[in-house]
Amino acid sequence: MTAPLLQAINLSKRYVLSGNHTVHALQDASMELTQGSWLTITGPSGSGKSTLLALLAGLDRPTTGEVLLDGTNISQANDVRLARYRKKKIGIIFQEYHLFEELNSLENVAMPLVVSNMTIKQRHAQAMSLLETVGLADRATHLPRQLSGGERQRVAVARALVHDPEIIFADEPTSNIDQKAADKVLHLFHSFKNAGKSLIVVSHSKQLSAAADTLIQMESGRIVL
Ligand SMILES: Nc1ncnc2c1ncn2[C@@H]1O[C@H](COP(=O)(O)OP(=O)(O)OP(=O)(O)O)[C@@H](O)[C@H]1O
Ligand SMILES: [Mg+2]
Repeated sequence: MTAPLLQAINLSKRYVLSGNHTVHALQDASMELTQGSWLTITGPSGSGKSTLLALLAGLDRPTTGEVLLDGTNISQANDVRLARYRKKKIGIIFQEYHLFEELNSLENVAMPLVVSNMTIKQRHAQAMSLLETVGLADRATHLPRQLSGGERQRVAVARALVHDPEIIFADEPTSNIDQKAADKVLHLFHSFKNAGKSLIVVSHSKQLSAAADTLIQMESGRIVL
């Protein structure tokens, strides 16, 4: 049996708010992702999906538990190593997109290539090709505030894929776009997986659930299925 690419062991995340009020955003969550597979996470609003995704992507640290990436505990890996890994091997589509407001679409999409040894011309050519794929070639010079919500989301999708990462973490990547654009994203994700890569997708979309090899359902901070 092949070792999992990514493994969560008894992950919990608690937030302590004022007045000692504690939120158990995630409780005792364990799961694994095999290389080359697609995992979709579903569940009601507030059930802990984004919290779990952030921990798996190494963006946040668990209160207790471990995330193992290729067998290494990412909360113990020194930050420089983790940052390098993230930049090269991971593509993230945030629920709120997190585009750089002062950069246009092309520059946003080209951003993950800064750490590559490509020239700026090559980076922009690659970013443009991704923008074309998501149907936004004619919005390349728009700033995020000059884009619609769905266009911003597609810029975020293009940015997550531009450096050909190993794993994509996507939080509701089609929540704001129409069926035609969602079909394009689905197609991109399928091609990504067919290249032997792995995806973790938070989504309520039936299409994105149906495409998954594994489905995880969350409720009140716990994995229930
Ligand atoms: N920084 C924080 N401080 C306090 N509570 C938080 C914080 N972040 C998340 N929570 C709480 O943790 C719970 C899980 O949040 P999370 O964002 O993971 O939910 P979600 O399943 O992604 O929901 P949605 O579908 O609405 O995006 C929620 O009840 C939320 O209010
Ligand atoms: Mg969320």
